[in-house]
Amino acid sequence: MLSRYRFLSSYVSPKARAIVFEKYGNPKDVLRAYTHELPPLTPTTLHIRFLASPINPADINQIEGVYPAKPTFTKELGILPDGEHKELAVGGNEGVAEIIAVGEQIKDLNVGDWVIMGRSGFGTWRTHAATTPNDVIRFNNKEIGLIQAATLSVNPCTAYRMLKDFVTLKKGDFMIQCGANSSVGQSVIQIAKAWGINTINIVRDRPDIENLKTHLKSLGATHIITDRELRNYKTKGLIKEWTGGNIIKLGLNCVGGEVATEMAKFLGQNGTHVTYGAMSRQPFFVPASHLIFKDIKFLGFWMSRWNKTHSREEKGEMLNEVIKLMKFKKESPADIAFEEVLWGNQSESDESLKNKFLSALDKSGAGFHGKKQILKMQS
Ligand SMILES: NC(=O)c1ccc[n+]([C@@H]2O[C@H](COP(=O)([O-])OP(=O)(O)OC[C@H]3O[C@@H](n4cnc5c(N)ncnc54)[C@H](OP(=O)(O)O)[C@@H]3O)[C@@H](O)[C@H]2O)c1
Repeated sequence: MLSRYRFLSSYVSPKARAIVFEKYGNPKDVLRAYTHELPPLTPTTLHIRFLASPINPADINQIEGVYPAKPTFTKELGILPDGEHKELAVGGNEGVAEIIAVGEQIKDLNVGDWVIMGRSGFGTWRTHAATTPNDVIRFNNKEIGLIQAATLSVNPCTAYRMLKDFVTLKKGDFMIQCGANSSVGQSVIQIAKAWGINTINIVRDRPDIENLKTHLKSLGATHIITDRELRNYKTKGLIKEWTGGNIIKLGLNCVGGEVATEMAKFLGQNGTHVTYGAMSRQPFFVPASHLIFKDIKFLGFWMSRWNKTHSREEKGEMLNEVIKLMKFKKESPADIAFEEVLWGNQSESDESLKNKFLSALDKSGAGFHGKKQILKMQS
């Protein structure tokens, strides 16, 4: 309990367990589990204890070195067991942490506050970190459960910004999205529902499609259609029936390839097609007629860019608004499908922690798996 109090001379820095890499490459080849002491608390630093951190698709691209937001490589993590003092980066970009110790000159943060990271590339796949107030954003955790908080800063915020910043959507308007069962897609459904916006949700067909449809409906999805059904010649009429002839103003795409092209066909005059991911790793083509006759705008969104150009205060306000909109309930574990991976136990070997992590990473990369992998820290 000592560490729960503001700075105490008897406070002992905890040992941190982390998933680190020293060079870019295939995650299986370059990731390792690493145990190190946290640097001592100073009057201007904080010690935080991570509670839960998800594995997101962009984290993998970042380790591969193909993601524009780079991780922080630093020698501050200490010396490797083989005696080499290398620059290491901690993987992961999202997660929730609790402040466990506060330097005596810091007045606006307290032990017990819940925070998320204020920048990407901080490294969240770890049990503990030493940091500064500038790197964290405190939020109101009264109404939110652990898993919801751990997955709050990237996907729900991306959904919120895309529904708000590109076109003005009024109650009763229609939007369409592919990859609708992604975590972002599920947040889009929930926020749109709160605003009274109708969603047409495209998912890949699968044997248990009815279960998926039931789940998305329970979140507030208005209509759900598979990518196979979308290609059917009758679909145009069906969607017209759904919208009552109203135009679809916004399309959100995290898949690319054929479905991104197909989805564009359903946008109305002056519609906006926003790409924020490329899960199929396929490019998509844009027929000239969409540009010439319908004046459809093809744009992109990147949350990291928004974070860079907006203040910590603006981000804090957005988080609190998203929490209200998503109607999180502290007692319900999460609104997205997820699998908890208990991780970071102080008595577990680095080898065992690495293997546990890699097995979660495998599942997170498998298509049709449908469950976000979330490290729940056991420290
Ligand atoms: N631009 C930004 O700021 C931003 C922010 C957040 C996320 N993203 C991006 O958004 C995307 C979704 O992220 P997330 O965390 O929400 O993902 P997630 O929860 O892990 O879900 C992955 C989604 O991708 C689909 N998928 C996987 N492999 C696919 C393939 N080969 N072809 C077609 N669909 C495939 C899955 O559908 P199945 O169930 O059919 O496999 C599922 O809908 C990622 O590309 C991520 O990088 C971008």
